[in-house]
Amino acid sequence: MRETVKSVNVKVLRSKPWIEEKSTFVTYQVPIEGKTSVLNVLTYITENVDPTLGFYCSCRIGKCLGCSMVVNGEVKLACTTLVETDITVEPLRKSKVIKDLVVVKKGKSRPQSA
Ligand code: FES
Repeated sequence: MRETVKSVNVKVLRSKPWIEEKSTFVTYQVPIEGKTSVLNVLTYITENVDPTLGFYCSCRIGKCLGCSMVVNGEVKLACTTLVETDITVEPLRKSKVIKDLVVVKKGKSRPQSA
C-alpha cells in the first residue's frame, strides 16, 4: 500500500554574507512521503524549486557530520533527521556562514547544542 503524500513547510534561513549582512527566512512547501529526511527535503528544494539554496552533505549516512545544522532549534544531522511536520532550518549558530546552511566548521564533533 502506497503512503499518503503530504506537504510540509520548510523554513530556511538564507544568507549571502558577501552581499548583505542580513539573513532572511524563506519558506518552501515540500511534498513528503514515507520516511523523508531533512537532507531529502533540502535536495528536493534545490532540484525542483530553488537551485541556489546552499547546504553541504557528503556521506548521507550520519558518519561525516558534514550536514550538521539547526533543525527546530536543535543541532541535528540533516541526513538522519526525519521530517514529519513543518520545520525551521538554520546554519550552525557558532560557526561562520559561507552561504545559507554552509558554514566553516572547526573540527568534527557530534551535534550537541545550537
Ligand atoms: S551527510 Fe554525512 S553525516 Fe550527514
